[in-house]
Amino acid sequence: MKIDVVTIFPDYFAPLKLSLLGKASESGIVEFQIHDLRSFARNNHHAVDDTPYGGGAGMVMLPEVWGLALDPLMVENTDLIILTPAGKRFDQPMAESLSASSHIVFACGRYEGIDDRVRQHYSTQEYSSRNIRVHEVSIGDYVLGGGEVASLVMIEAITRLLPGVLGNPLSLSEESHNEDGYLEYPNFTKPSIWRDIPVPEILLSGNHGEIAKWRAEQASKRAENNI
Ligand code: ADE
Repeated sequence: MKIDVVTIFPDYFAPLKLSLLGKASESGIVEFQIHDLRSFARNNHHAVDDTPYGGGAGMVMLPEVWGLALDPLMVENTDLIILTPAGKRFDQPMAESLSASSHIVFACGRYEGIDDRVRQHYSTQEYSSRNIRVHEVSIGDYVLGGGEVASLVMIEAITRLLPGVLGNPLSLSEESHNEDGYLEYPNFTKPSIWRDIPVPEILLSGNHGEIAKWRAEQASKRAENNI
C-alpha cells in the first residue's frame, strides 16, 4: 500500500517511523510519502489560505495550491481522504474497507477547511472513471486544529490490518471473531493476584469453552456500558 499525505506540517508525521508503522514501512508493506503543501504555493508570501467569500471568521485553504499538490498524486485506483469534522465518521468497517486500497492520499486541511471546489473537482467523472474515489472523513464529533492528527489515527487503524504488520496475526482474527468486532473483553496477565485483586478464576481453569463464554459475556457488558 502507498500512502501520500499532504500537509503544511510535515513534522507531525515523525511517528510514522516508530513502532509497528516504522517496521511496516521498513519492510516495504507500506510506503509513506509526506508532501509539504506550502511548497506548492506560487504566490509571493507562500500563502496557502485566504479570507472566505461571503464573509465570516477564519481562513479557507486555496484551491489552486491544493490542485497543484494533488494532481500528481491522482493516479488510477486512489482513495482521496479529505479530513474534516463534517465528514463521514471513521470506524472499524471503514478502516477494513480502506485496508484493501492500494493507494490512499490524505489531504490535511487547517483553518476553516479547504475550498469545496477541490472536493468537487476530484469527484467528477473524469476521476471516478479512473477509479479515484473521494471521501470526506471525520474521526469523531469534536473539532481538531486540522486533519494531521486525524490522518495519523486513520493510518494506524488501517495499516495494522495489512498482512504482516502485526507480530501475531491471531490478534486480528480474534478481533474479527469477536461479536462486536473490536469491543474486547478485559485482559489479565501475571501475577495471578496483584494488590489483593485476583485474576477471575475461570481464566485459570484451562476450560477453553467456559473461558470463551465468559469473555463474550464480559465484552457485551463492556459494550452496553459504553453506549
Ligand atoms: N479536522 C478538524 N477536526 C477534525 C475531525 N474531528 N476529524 C477529521 N478532521 C478534522
